[in-house]
Amino acid sequence: MDNSDISNVLITSDEIDKRVKELGKEITEDYSGMNPLFVGTLKGAVIFTADLIREIKTACELDFISVSSYDKSESTGIVTINSETKMPLVGRNVIIVEDIVDTGKTLLSLKQRFKDLGAKSVKIVSLLNKPSHRIIDDLDVEYIGFDIPDEFIVGYGLDFDEKYRNLPDICVLDESAYQ
Ligand code: PRP
Repeated sequence: MDNSDISNVLITSDEIDKRVKELGKEITEDYSGMNPLFVGTLKGAVIFTADLIREIKTACELDFISVSSYDKSESTGIVTINSETKMPLVGRNVIIVEDIVDTGKTLLSLKQRFKDLGAKSVKIVSLLNKPSHRIIDDLDVEYIGFDIPDEFIVGYGLDFDEKYRNLPDICVLDESAYQ
């Protein structure tokens, strides 16, 4: 595979694995007996969702929503829902599973949407958090895997122009790829 656009590994698959286990343990303790509904955001969070849910040691359910807001490397600021959740959200304790919080617009929009659909509670678990890009200041992200610097990153589900989602590590994309 041609990985010439990758400049370095930011978070290794071993580090991801360890942190996902910690998050799973914390969420299991917080939601024990509450039958939480995990909603993974496609496509970026698909790999994180698959790994996280196997670390949840209490009864839970799973659904997905497909959203997009990026055109290549640029946030358009418009959150488009490509495919809705399938399960009723009324009265459910929902945990949105996200790969990265950047501006925060996607999660603000989803949190409000799920509350409007009748969820009893809506919390967020995001593997990555890029605080330097935040536009929505008052967004609560209850569970965060890693804070990351202002770099364009790919791998473990995250893409650049739909490529690199298959990399097991989280890697920095060389600036020359998108400038
Ligand atoms: C990415 C990422 C988050 C969102 C975060 O999705 O997966 O859903 O952007 O950005 P924000 O905090 O600025 O809203 P993208 O639109 O690239 O779609 P994808 O998950 O299919 O790659």
